Amino acid sequence: DQSTLQAYRASILHFGADPAHHANAYEWHEDGLLLIADGKVVAAGDYLQLSAQLKASLQTELNIQDYRGKIIMPGFIDSHVHYPQTDMIASPAPGLLPWLEKYTFPTERKFGDPAHASDVAHFFVDELLRCGTTTAMVFCTVNPVSVDAFFTESESRNLRMIAGKVMMDRNCPDFLQDTAEGGIRESEDLLKKWHNRGRQLYAITPRFAPTSCNAQLQLAGELAASYPDVYLQTHAAENTDEVAWVKSLFPDARSYMDVYDKYGMLRPRSMYAHCVWLDDNDRRRMAETQSAISICPTSNLFLGSGLFDFEAADAAQVPLSLATDVGGGTSFSMLQTMNEAYKVARMGNTYLPALRMFYLATLGGARSLQLEGTIGNFVAGAEADFIVLDPQSTPLLARRTERTESLEELLFALALLGDDRAIAATYAAGKLVHRRDGASL
Ligand code: GUN
Ligand code: ZN
Repeated sequence: DQSTLQAYRASILHFGADPAHHANAYEWHEDGLLLIADGKVVAAGDYLQLSAQLKASLQTELNIQDYRGKIIMPGFIDSHVHYPQTDMIASPAPGLLPWLEKYTFPTERKFGDPAHASDVAHFFVDELLRCGTTTAMVFCTVNPVSVDAFFTESESRNLRMIAGKVMMDRNCPDFLQDTAEGGIRESEDLLKKWHNRGRQLYAITPRFAPTSCNAQLQLAGELAASYPDVYLQTHAAENTDEVAWVKSLFPDARSYMDVYDKYGMLRPRSMYAHCVWLDDNDRRRMAETQSAISICPTSNLFLGSGLFDFEAADAAQVPLSLATDVGGGTSFSMLQTMNEAYKVARMGNTYLPALRMFYLATLGGARSLQLEGTIGNFVAGAEADFIVLDPQSTPLLARRTERTESLEELLFALALLGDDRAIAATYAAGKLVHRRDGASL
């Protein structure tokens, strides 16, 4: 039905492949047109060409939203973030384990209260949309009501989100503990309720190996095997103290990642946050099993966890994505996350081009989640989650981007200097879900 056709004119960028491995990885239309109908992409292309085609086939005049001077691209995908940690972002600690004790566990305790959980979920989703993030892979807390609160919020805005109930049955305060069987039962109830309900997707979520006993990890792996299209998310090899702890808890495992491997948790649709302290064996197993890495640079620098090894991950061809890891991460903005990712890569003597970073934050995330064709680019039929980036959102960005001489330079300036202010508008399933104050429409 062409009466529902929406059209947006702007520069358009999206990816069809990873620019690290392919020459023609992206499409760029300086003067582009994005066509949407019924929440899905109809076409993305050159303005003159597409509008001429349309004029020939349409009876009525097409109403075009004019975003010239701005860049439309797919919404960002944040592949690892904790919504309950919103209120404790920027809480300092000398490292991961003391940070968990001092801030994280007391904060997560409050999510047994559904009203509190709803309040935080509402703010959290607003903040994602302000930053141009349209899909996130989200940790809730151990309380099932925290999951209902999150999905209810996401569903009310028709967002494509992945989330799950944290499972942890040891090495954490009593008030946050479930049991091996109880945690699995609650997870199964929640996944039956939420997985594929509208745009919601469920993730089985053992917090990390130290907080699950063997029985819980075993059952988590079995649950994942009985629901192969459900997601699985956890943390891995973030910090050297944590790695040493895992070694003492699982003396028979070859490595931290091997613990997850033994329990059948390496699989497509599994997402491992951090992966700073892997070896080549771990990376090979992840690539073989299509297990994905969520790279969390602001968190790794903030908590002093270490520097992600881009070169080794690429050599092994592990699926990669970018993430904020709020509240360990220090920003909700995927642009700020790219900024820090760039510097982390530099410290490892790797050069991370801006095009690669925007790929990782869009199609790279979608591929890691086996959602290519659904989100992450503008192929026909994809869900119309997109953002409008404003290269003139601050005086400095305007001055700098006026002087850029290539797409790479323009994107690089946006990644290094941009933040939530650079997001003029965010659309989900073809509907406007955020407009920046003062952004002209
Ligand atoms: N490892 C286990 N739990 C957490 C968490 O909440 N945040 C981070 N960054 N690492 C973890
Ligand atoms: Zn995390």
